[in-house]
Amino acid sequence: MDTGLRDRTILVTGASGGIGAATVRLLVQEGARVIASGRDAGILTELAAETGCVTRPFDLTVEEEVEQAMSGLDLYGVVNCGGWGGEIATPMDTDTDVFDKVIDINTRGTLLVTKYASQGMVAAGTGGSIVNVSSQASLVGLKGHISYASSKGAVDAMTRVSALELGPHNIRVNAVNPTVVMTPMSECYWGREDIGGPFLNTMPLRRWATEEDCAGPIVFLLSDAAAMISGVCLPVDGGFTAV
Ligand SMILES: NC(=O)c1ccc[n+]([C@@H]2O[C@H](COP(=O)([O-])OP(=O)(O)OC[C@H]3O[C@@H](n4cnc5c(N)ncnc54)[C@H](OP(=O)(O)O)[C@@H]3O)[C@@H](O)[C@H]2O)c1
Repeated sequence: MDTGLRDRTILVTGASGGIGAATVRLLVQEGARVIASGRDAGILTELAAETGCVTRPFDLTVEEEVEQAMSGLDLYGVVNCGGWGGEIATPMDTDTDVFDKVIDINTRGTLLVTKYASQGMVAAGTGGSIVNVSSQASLVGLKGHISYASSKGAVDAMTRVSALELGPHNIRVNAVNPTVVMTPMSECYWGREDIGGPFLNTMPLRRWATEEDCAGPIVFLLSDAAAMISGVCLPVDGGFTAV
């Protein structure tokens, strides 16, 4: 299958993290020109040495930085992958400072990148594709996820509205909603036998996702193979939200 991504320029935020880096690797394999972003310039430099991507570090919470980073880019695609898990808390005991920070990074950060990237994409008039990395936490109620789920639910809504607004410019906007990838951040909660065990028992595929399990659907949605798909929030969850 020809993804049509050869020589197209794709920005990946969160590229200094697990899912973002896996996406960069797969996009480079497909011949795309990849711009990898995050805050940790050292990790991005290592990824660039490994893959040949270029780097553009910026902070998703600082609008001026995002605007400056997007200026002059000739983008075909964007992967909004940068994000933060926040805390495990209930609506009764949540720390609203954490809530604000999760929304700032996951939701407002996705909006800022979409805002400034799509301005250039619309002006170029050559179409494009945006993929937002949401979560299964936006699709079903998960205990302890009040802030994170709220932030990703808003990303799903943003995906649909952006698909509506950008569609006439031949820019598709979709989301992927992965289940748990067992990163160090996930380990402290989902790695608990009393939490992870019952969860996996209700999931048809009965295993955690890998970074590569997420990168494949992201690249598919960016590609010409998904040319008629827009406004979709695609679970990458081993069937968890289907049963
Ligand atoms: N891991 C999971 O179980 C899971 C499941 C579903 C969805 N997701 C989503 O998938 C995405 C990637 O997750 P991951 O597991 O790969 O996480 P990760 O390894 O912790 O990576 C997070 C990425 O987000 C970046 N980031 C965080 N705050 C930022 C900020 N203020 N400005 C710029 N970049 C920032 C980090 O960059 P720096 O470290 O350089 O700051 C890093 O590149 C996130 O949106 C996450 O919510 C993850």
